[in-house]
Amino acid sequence: MEKYLKIKKPDDFHLHLRDGNILKSVLSESKNNFARALIMPNLSPPIILLKQAKAYRNRILSYVKAKEDFTPLMTLYLTENSSIEDIVRAHQEGICTAIKLYPNGVTTNSNQGVTSIKNVMKILEKMADIKLPLCVHGETPITTVDIFDREKVFIETILRPLHKELPTLKITLEHISTKEGVEFVESSNKNVAGSITPHHLMMNRNQLFSKGIRPHFFCLPILKREKHRLALINAATSGNPKFFLGTDSAPHLDGDKESSCGCAGIFNASNAIECLTQIFYEGNQLQNLEKFTSENGAAHYNLDQNQGSITLIRKEQANDYKNKLKTSEGDITIFNPNSPIFWKVERERQSDET
Ligand code: NCD
Ligand code: ZN
Repeated sequence: MEKYLKIKKPDDFHLHLRDGNILKSVLSESKNNFARALIMPNLSPPIILLKQAKAYRNRILSYVKAKEDFTPLMTLYLTENSSIEDIVRAHQEGICTAIKLYPNGVTTNSNQGVTSIKNVMKILEKMADIKLPLCVHGETPITTVDIFDREKVFIETILRPLHKELPTLKITLEHISTKEGVEFVESSNKNVAGSITPHHLMMNRNQLFSKGIRPHFFCLPILKREKHRLALINAATSGNPKFFLGTDSAPHLDGDKESSCGCAGIFNASNAIECLTQIFYEGNQLQNLEKFTSENGAAHYNLDQNQGSITLIRKEQANDYKNKLKTSEGDITIFNPNSPIFWKVERERQSDET
């Protein structure tokens, strides 16, 4: 028996599209299923200035046909030397939807990130004034802190004090990976929201070391214990408007992942929506899927709700995903959750069946 579910077209509020030769191939996996995506600025060199964001946006749009209905929402990479005027202009011109805070050194291309919140406080105050949201990679940069505790420690030492000092600043705690992350978002005021990835909902840290080391499951924040995954499932599927989808789809060429010092990042753009539908279905929460994928994030970022829709179909047979995305630079492994996914996006379907 087939089942149909029609939802507003999803948005991805955390996406790495990269640049250069792989941009076109990577983008092709997102633009079918998402109306908009918040584009991460951690290129090398990073997107720090409005003029860089405009040029990057144009490069992205050069691969989007008019009928494809995909809008990149840009972010600027916050540094201690960022210019308030440039940030304000990026917001006023409608080019940038948020500013991204990377604590210095915590992840891919974050070595121009912020070493101390004090050094960007004036910028954050201005952002609060003009209602420009801050996206946060929530891990402490202190490398002596255990890698599995870095989100919790960041929340206690940096994020909670910041929110207390500047409660009017809109904050997204991105790719939440812990129970403590969920609790922080739930207990903060309405300006604080959290994004959640499909892979943190589908896997715990055992999968990283299942019969060997699994470089394609290595991402930051790193996968955590099962109790954290369950807290994330509860938050995502609850319908609570504070939680929404950010895939953190982060492609790296296979050679860079399967190496003695493999890069962090999971490329899930190809099947993110289908994985999520399976999760909500298994939790008997399909009625809240649309809120998570298509409504809550737009509301947090003060954007219109999408007009278009997608239809999902539940199949008898599990989906068979291709393993690799081919690019002119080499292959990129597509996220394989190692559990069957029975839902498929059928883009062209216009029916109202549910
Ligand atoms: C991201 C990347 O590769 O750019 N990697 C990751 O593991 N998530 C950066 C990030 O979002 O941390
Ligand atoms: Zn990311």
